[in-house]
Amino acid sequence: MSNNSLSEKPEWAALQAHGQELESSSISALFKADPKRFEHFHRQACGLVYDYSKQRVTSKTIEKLCALAHACDLEGWREKMISGRAINTSENRPVLHMALRGSLGEGLEIDGENVSHFVQENLALIRKFSEEVRADEKLTDVIVVGIGGSDLGPRLVYEALEPCPEAPRLHFLSTMDGAPLDRVLRTVAPENALVILSSKSFGTDETLTHAHILKDWLAKPERLYAVTGNIQAALDFGVPAAHILPMRSWIGGRFSLWSAIGLPIAIGCGFDRFSALLEGARTMDSHFMSTPLAENIPVLAGLIGIWNRNVLGYNALAVLPYMDALRNLPAYLQQMDMESNGKSVDREGRPVSYATGPIVFGETGTNAQHAFMQLLHQGTEIIPSDFIIVAQAPHDLQEHHTKLLCNALAQSQALMEGQQNEAEPHRAFPGNRPSSTIVLPRLDAFSLGALMALYEHKIFVQGALWGINSFDQWGVELGKVIARDLYREFSEKPDDAHDGSTAALLKLLKSFD
Ligand code: F6P
Repeated sequence: MSNNSLSEKPEWAALQAHGQELESSSISALFKADPKRFEHFHRQACGLVYDYSKQRVTSKTIEKLCALAHACDLEGWREKMISGRAINTSENRPVLHMALRGSLGEGLEIDGENVSHFVQENLALIRKFSEEVRADEKLTDVIVVGIGGSDLGPRLVYEALEPCPEAPRLHFLSTMDGAPLDRVLRTVAPENALVILSSKSFGTDETLTHAHILKDWLAKPERLYAVTGNIQAALDFGVPAAHILPMRSWIGGRFSLWSAIGLPIAIGCGFDRFSALLEGARTMDSHFMSTPLAENIPVLAGLIGIWNRNVLGYNALAVLPYMDALRNLPAYLQQMDMESNGKSVDREGRPVSYATGPIVFGETGTNAQHAFMQLLHQGTEIIPSDFIIVAQAPHDLQEHHTKLLCNALAQSQALMEGQQNEAEPHRAFPGNRPSSTIVLPRLDAFSLGALMALYEHKIFVQGALWGINSFDQWGVELGKVIARDLYREFSEKPDDAHDGSTAALLKLLKSFD
C-alpha cells in the first residue's frame, strides 16, 4: 500500500478512535494514575534526555502511533534515504546529509562518485581552509554571505558555542537589506577581511546582491571564497578556483551545515569543535537508524507531533530554548520544519486530506514568558511546546542558571496543571497544555550536533508518515519570480504601472523619491 493513503489506513482510524477515548483525559490525571510516569515517558540517548511525560499520551497512544508508522513503512523510507534512493522525488535527488557526518556506508556511489570519498575530501578542505584563515594574523574579520540553509545553521552554531578568542570575527549577511552590509562596510577594513559566499545554487538574489558590492570593496580579490554546488557560476563571478569548496546536489540547503557550508563554524569555533558537532549528529544518526521505534527519540518526537497535529488538532509548535546562546534555534527549526513539511500534496502530487507541518515559532526563555506565553497559558489555541534546557551553566553565574531552569520547569508545569479560579475567571488557567522537555547535559558542540540531528530526523519521520516530499521547497519560488519582475518594472518603467494593488503600491513607493 502506498504511503499517500495515510488517512485510509486502519491504523489511522484506530488512532483517531483512541483520540476520542482520551478526549476527556488530563495530563495531570495521567500523572496521578501513574506515579512513575516520568520514568515511563522519557528516553535518554546520545547524552540527551527527551521527556514526553507532559504530552497527552498513554502507552497505548505510543503503541498505536508506532503501528501507524509501521503501516506507513517508516523503516522502509529510512532505508531508502540511507541507501541513496532519490526520495526527493520532484528533483530526483537522494537525501544524504547523514553521509556528511560519516553515518552511511563506505560503498555508496552517486552519479559515479563515491560519497564517502567526497565527504572525506571535503572535510580535509574545510580543515585546510579554516586553519589557513585562522593562522593569518592580518585577518581580523570574515564576512559570511548566505541565506536560508546557507546561513541559519552556521549562524546558530557560531553563536551557541563560544567562538575562539584568537579567531577572526564573523559577520553574517543574509537578508535583502542593505543596512547590515552597510554596517560591515563602515566598520571593517577591507585589507583585513575575507568574504565567504555560501550558496548551493550560486543564484540566490540576496547573496549575489551582497556579493557584487563586497567583491568591489575587497582590497584583495584572492580573499574571496565560495561554498557552492554551482562551481561554474562561482568561477564566472570571479572566485579563484582554488577557493571554491564544492557541494553536491544530494545535500539539501536546510540540511547543509554539516557540509562546507559549515566552514564558518570551523573558522570561528575551530575545526575540532566542528568535528565534535559532526560526531554528536553521527551518534544521533546511529540511534535513529538502529533503535526500535518506541525507544527511538526522533521517532517518538515525530509521532507525538503527528498525534498533536492530526488527532488533537493543534496547529502550531512553540520552540523554547532556555539559553540565550540558543537564540537562533527557533529560526533554524522554522526553516527546517516549515520548508520541509509545509506541503499540501503528496509525493504523487495528490492533495492530502489531513493536516501536515505545524506553524513553528519560538523565542528564548525567559523572554518568551514576557511575550507570547500569555496566549499559550490562557489563549483559545492550544500550542504544544518544546522546552530545551541545558543542565550545566556555561558560566559562573549559578544563581542565574538555576533560576533559568526553574522558570522552564515552572512553565511546563503551569501549562500542564493550570489553575482553577471561579471567582476571577481572568486569573484561571485551563491547563492540560502539552509540552516536551529536551535536556542537554551542557552546551557543547557534541550535544548541539545531536540536538540538531534529532530535529532533522523528527521532520523526516513526519514527512514519511504524511507521504509528502520533505526535501523540496517549491513554495519559495513564486514570490522570487514576482519580485524579480517587479524590480525590473520598478527600475525600468515605474510610471507604466498596471492595474492592481501591487502596481499601485509600486507607483506610490516611487513617489517618495
Ligand atoms: O529559501 C529557499 C532556499 O532555496 C533554501 O532552501 C536555501 O537554503 C536558500 O534558499 C539558499 O539557497 P542557496 O544556498 O542556493 O543560496
